[in-house]
Amino acid sequence: MTTEKPRPLLIVEDDPALQKQLRWSFDQFETLTAGDRESALSQIHRHHPAVVTMDLGLPPDADSVSEGFRLLEQILSAAPDTKVIVLTGQNDRANALRAIGLGAYDFFAKPFEPELLSLTIERAYRLYDLQQENRRLQASQHPDALAGLLTRSPEMLRVCRTVEKVAGSNATVLLLGESGTGKEVLARGVHEASPRKNERFVAINCAAIPDNLLESELFGYEKGAFTGAAKTTPGKIESADGGTLMLDEIGDLPHPLQAKLLRFLQERVVERLGGRQEIPVDVRIVCATHQDLKTLIKEGRFREDLFYRLAEIVINIPPLRARNGDATLLAHAFVRRFANEQNCGSMTLTEDAIRAIEAHPWPGNVRELENCIKRAVIMADGAQITRDDIGLETDGESPSEFIDLRKIRDDAERGAVVTALGRANGNLVRAAEILGISRPTLYDLLHRLGLK
Ligand SMILES: Nc1ncnc2c1ncn2[C@@H]1O[C@H](COP(=O)(O)OP(=O)(O)OP(=O)(O)O)[C@@H](O)[C@H]1O
Ligand SMILES: [Mg+2]
Repeated sequence: MTTEKPRPLLIVEDDPALQKQLRWSFDQFETLTAGDRESALSQIHRHHPAVVTMDLGLPPDADSVSEGFRLLEQILSAAPDTKVIVLTGQNDRANALRAIGLGAYDFFAKPFEPELLSLTIERAYRLYDLQQENRRLQASQHPDALAGLLTRSPEMLRVCRTVEKVAGSNATVLLLGESGTGKEVLARGVHEASPRKNERFVAINCAAIPDNLLESELFGYEKGAFTGAAKTTPGKIESADGGTLMLDEIGDLPHPLQAKLLRFLQERVVERLGGRQEIPVDVRIVCATHQDLKTLIKEGRFREDLFYRLAEIVINIPPLRARNGDATLLAHAFVRRFANEQNCGSMTLTEDAIRAIEAHPWPGNVRELENCIKRAVIMADGAQITRDDIGLETDGESPSEFIDLRKIRDDAERGAVVTALGRANGNLVRAAEILGISRPTLYDLLHRLGLK
């Protein structure tokens, strides 16, 4: 036994006899029970159990698994660290695998051996404890440096670890990523996790300021340096002294300023426009761009020597579509945030809304998702956000004058059949069930669509 005090274990099971048996088998834990989705969620909110065992077939339709999967998703979105052990029927590998894919910790086929299940539960508690411990340690090193950044994808977690690792040095960091991937969030993370965190973080967007103003913005000017220079004004570089300067959209820095920035990076002094004095500035530079700097260099639009000065540490931020599972994780979090901000009470995404979010490629990345959910929260009629509220364009297909209904029907049927076959793991009987058609009809379809 690993713990002294019994720990809460939630058992979700609608069959009273089985519920009793489970309670009895696991009396080393403080067993909580729930017979349906709603009461399971309320137990989770009240007791925060680290481990949950759950039956997939729950009322109102205990013969189907939809309620069980819905509960699984809701548990993991409300308490992502919870270890959920799914109990399935015999020969139900397809659902077991789907549950694991959604983030369940493990599965057991009924009838199960209590000793074996007990061991798995113990192991789940241990993993949970280790993860909590790990989180506490990380938090104590860099409290909240990347607090606003949500991710569960290994690629992005690696990026976060790199940010935390390099933050302590003074090295110049170059963040590369598509628009909306979180370049600014990470740049702030570098600052917050660094010894400069109590000094200023100053950001300037090189693409947003007209070329003729950018120089004075960056380097400042003396009174009378040009018409309109009414009083001496320090530039952004100077005002970030002691802290961190973010040069956003560095690929848009005009050529003459590239030379001037390079000189600053080499000598670490600025000279204001119209000034003669060299002012030493101690600043950590983080720059970012969505452009491919290597191409800009080849085209002669970006100085290679500046690139190497800036690229002491290069961090590639993966686009949202390459972060497995993050789109839904972020969507749930944004729903919670915006529903809260709008005083809408608690809101949830319907399953088809989640599917639509998963299927969308998110070219505008997290920013696009954020805006999409914000709008959906406002558009939704009740507590449920539907696929329609999300309003995602079904992309691809260039609009044509004619509508080929037959092709649309074939494509839709082919898509549905392929999805059903995937879910049924190739089992035709099950696939026909999922599609709600007879087996001969499925054979006909496979034949007609050339899917044999
Ligand atoms: N992992 C994340 N978790 C939570 N919010 C995020 C995450 N990544 C980005 N955001 C949010 O998404 C929005 C876009 O992020 P950010 O401004 O950092 O992106 P960017 O790469 O700088 O975009 P752009 O290229 O458009 O300037 C911000 O509102 C930010 O708070
Ligand atoms: Mg940005």
